[in-house]
Amino acid sequence: MSVFGIDFGNLNSTVAITRYGGVDIVTNEVSKRETTTIVSFLDEERFIGEQGFDRYVRNAQNTIFLLKRFIGMRIDDPELEIERKFLTCNVKGDEEGRLMFSVNYCDEEKCFYPEQVLAMMLQRLRTYVNEAATTDPRVRADVRDFVITVPSYYTAEQRRLMYQASEVAGLHCMSLINETTASAVDYGIFRGTSLKETEEEGQVVGILDIGYGATDFSVCKFWRGNCKILARTFDRNNGTRDCDYCLYEHMVNEVKERYKVDVTENRRARLRLLQACERLKYLLSANQSAPLNVENLMDVDVNIASFDRATMESLCSGVLDRVRAVIERGFVEAGVTREHFHSIEMIGGGCRIPMLKRLVEDVLGRTPSFTLNASETTARGCAIVAAMLSPKFQVREFKISELPTYPILLGYHAENPRSPSAVPFLPDVNKVVRLLGAADSYPKKLDVRFPFRGAWKLYAFYDYENALVKEMVLPGRYVIGEWDFGAPAKARGSVQEMKVRIHVKPDGLLEVEKAEAIDVYEVEVEEPAAKSAEAPAAPATGEAPAETEKANEEAPKMVKKTKESSLPVSVKPNLDIIGHKSESIVGFRKAEADMHERDCRIVRTREKKNELESYILDFRPRISTGGMLADYTPADAAADFVRQCDADEQWLYEDGENASYDEYDKRVQALRAIGDAANHRLRSREDAEFASKTFRTRMAAAAKKAVDFVGKKEHVTEEELRAVAAKAEAACTWADSQLAAMHAAAKTAETPITAADFERKAVEMEQEVNKVLTKPAPPKPKEEKKEPETKAEEDAAAEAEDAAAEAEDAAAEAKEAAPANEETPAPRADVDLD
Ligand SMILES: *[C@@H]1O[C@H](CO)[C@@H](O)[C@H](O)[C@H]1NC(C)=O
Ligand SMILES: *[C@@H]1O[C@H](CO)[C@@H](O)[C@H](O)[C@H]1NC(C)=O
Ligand SMILES: *[C@@H]1O[C@H](CO)[C@@H](O)[C@H](O)[C@H]1NC(C)=O
Ligand SMILES: *[C@@H]1O[C@H](CO)[C@@H](O)[C@H](O)[C@H]1NC(C)=O
Ligand SMILES: *[C@@H]1O[C@H](CO)[C@@H](O)[C@H](O)[C@H]1NC(C)=O
Ligand SMILES: *[C@@H]1O[C@H](CO)[C@@H](O)[C@H](O)[C@H]1NC(C)=O
Repeated sequence: MSVFGIDFGNLNSTVAITRYGGVDIVTNEVSKRETTTIVSFLDEERFIGEQGFDRYVRNAQNTIFLLKRFIGMRIDDPELEIERKFLTCNVKGDEEGRLMFSVNYCDEEKCFYPEQVLAMMLQRLRTYVNEAATTDPRVRADVRDFVITVPSYYTAEQRRLMYQASEVAGLHCMSLINETTASAVDYGIFRGTSLKETEEEGQVVGILDIGYGATDFSVCKFWRGNCKILARTFDRNNGTRDCDYCLYEHMVNEVKERYKVDVTENRRARLRLLQACERLKYLLSANQSAPLNVENLMDVDVNIASFDRATMESLCSGVLDRVRAVIERGFVEAGVTREHFHSIEMIGGGCRIPMLKRLVEDVLGRTPSFTLNASETTARGCAIVAAMLSPKFQVREFKISELPTYPILLGYHAENPRSPSAVPFLPDVNKVVRLLGAADSYPKKLDVRFPFRGAWKLYAFYDYENALVKEMVLPGRYVIGEWDFGAPAKARGSVQEMKVRIHVKPDGLLEVEKAEAIDVYEVEVEEPAAKSAEAPAAPATGEAPAETEKANEEAPKMVKKTKESSLPVSVKPNLDIIGHKSESIVGFRKAEADMHERDCRIVRTREKKNELESYILDFRPRISTGGMLADYTPADAAADFVRQCDADEQWLYEDGENASYDEYDKRVQALRAIGDAANHRLRSREDAEFASKTFRTRMAAAAKKAVDFVGKKEHVTEEELRAVAAKAEAACTWADSQLAAMHAAAKTAETPITAADFERKAVEMEQEVNKVLTKPAPPKPKEEKKEPETKAEEDAAAEAEDAAAEAEDAAAEAKEAAPANEETPAPRADVDLD
């Protein structure tokens, strides 16, 4: 029982899991708390996350990076030009102009939409979550419910694509959340009662997230259990990577001058220098100066011994200005002056860079705060929101009031509009109403009334005259919703109006919850003085009034009254208006499952191939003449084994290089049949040898114990003690003869005596001794017990013990089953947030 949250980043993604105990960051296969958002295709295999990053530079052309910037991108988007300087693989457009990455995979050119690549990444992150959620290794966890971050400026289409990517990965995305809002939740919920009680007294906190590719700033007001976003500003094209790029441009010239090499001509060299600049920036965050070294960069060793932080800062002044503008715009839009800020919390990779800290200090007039964990707060906030949305968890209440980025309009066709409006991209629309203004907070539900006109269409679209919409949304991508309404059932009176309930969901997407036609009709009712039982109680269905009328028939004094009832109207959303068509999603999902299966098969096959290789290397020298297992293998089998090894080895270099799992397995099995058997014979002889030594020691101890007991108890006679001691000593002779027989036997046959035989015999003898020692003191001395009896008792005791163990196992199982059952009556687990 867990849910999780993903902070989806341009560079790194971070995952947090919520379970009974609270919220934890999930680590990846190399125990890192952040995983690079990257997928690299090589031959027939996909390398995702950490493994993809390892192959990035070598395989740049087939590696997809910076995914977040491409979700929903069209090939004619001017943003693509900005992105080209970082882009390493090829892109192309599909017939609708959607961008696809083109890579070489399985020996041919394959194209993937960014959303498909995101699904690959999600699939990988999910394995980390399942690993973390697995408490009992026999039961694999399958956690599907999650919440993922999006930049606040993602459009409705991009948001829908995020859901579709989750679907392709076989996951259930409960909601999306804006990046900085997630950290606002992390900030507000843990402060609990230390926050003021009312909105008026609330504290204004800025959350500044300087990420790899973008900068986001939110001005939030916090009071107990609440967070209201007052303003949200961003620069989607300036983050820490632009600092790297400024350094890189400088270094390109430096390298050209000093070494006469143009790095820009070579993709791989370009990337290596860019990465070296990133490292340099990192070093300069701690030091005033640092070196830049890149070996063998297009045949030269670049070595710039000392580079100053001050130089970097002057090179990056353009980026600093952009970040400053984002913060200052936030101040203005929120209408909050810097004195009225409680603090500005810095998060994201940028908060480690001194010049950015100084910048914030300069704008705010105070040092910024770092109370949130810069790289993990967003994922944590996300996991908390996931728990809030899940019926399985009980989370302290926390309300978020969001601010829309893009104003939304509704448009339709009216019969005779008094003041018609024209929408350039919707020819049949002649009437427009405003659904959401820039200052409206939401989530909310609105009932909008329209004049009635039979079956009709309603459109929702971004306010194309809004400056931000013009800047951020491609023309042609404005429409975000389209609904077809049916005609209502027959009305009793006249229908002049329709009422449509529109839900602006917290994830920023729209939904029509229901639509009704307003039926206005007249009825005759008794004069109110008599009785008013038939008040306009149930306006629900159209049929109800018929009966009402009958009931009123005999009423003496009647008056006419106007009544309203709602007639349900069918609503059909056009789901294909944004995002991929649902058939495509089914196809993508199948393709993803196939690719996943192929990856697994490749890994399994590679492991089997390695097993064959190492078995040959280990066992051939052992079984060859003079090897430690040579004597333990029948001569013909040994010769056969060595021959097989030689053949397999040859085969591995030739036809067997890319063979199937089954072929490797068949060969491994054939070798093991000989090698493992010989090994087993050697081991069991060694074990028997060793066991015989232990046996001797135990027998000596048992004999001594018996002799030492002489005179301790009156009813235990010296005679019987010495007899049993002698018997124990005699057992050693038995052991010697057994060993001798083993040594005499052919080594190529199974050993006649095993360690288990010695163990059994030792236990038997020890029990015999103990029996004498613990003989109950009877009034008259008893005779020594006969062997068969002892044996029977022993067996009985062993049986009893087994039964006890079994019972214990059963109890343990019952206990484990219990938590699973608890889930059914839906107890809500408290998430510990303190
Ligand atoms: C995020 O921000 C956008 C734009 O400001 C808004 O429409 C949306 O409701 C917000 N919330 C979520 C969960 O995306
Ligand atoms: C950073 O500076 C410290 C001391 O000033 C020095 O010891 C260290 O070597 C420097 N590190 C690098 C990578 O230059
Ligand atoms: C970031 O800002 C700088 C300075 O204005 C600009 O030169 C650069 O192009 C921006 N980065 C991107 C990716 O647009
Ligand atoms: C991204 O993750 C890697 C480790 O996975 C880490 O070394 C690096 O610092 C992270 N980068 C940022 C900007 O957080
Ligand atoms: C965030 O928390 C993790 C784990 O406690 C820690 O390793 C990391 O250094 C923290 N990061 C920051 C920036 O405080
Ligand atoms: C096996 O695959 C590799 C890489 O695809 C290829 O270079 C090699 O020729 C193949 N070998 C055989 C025997 O098919």
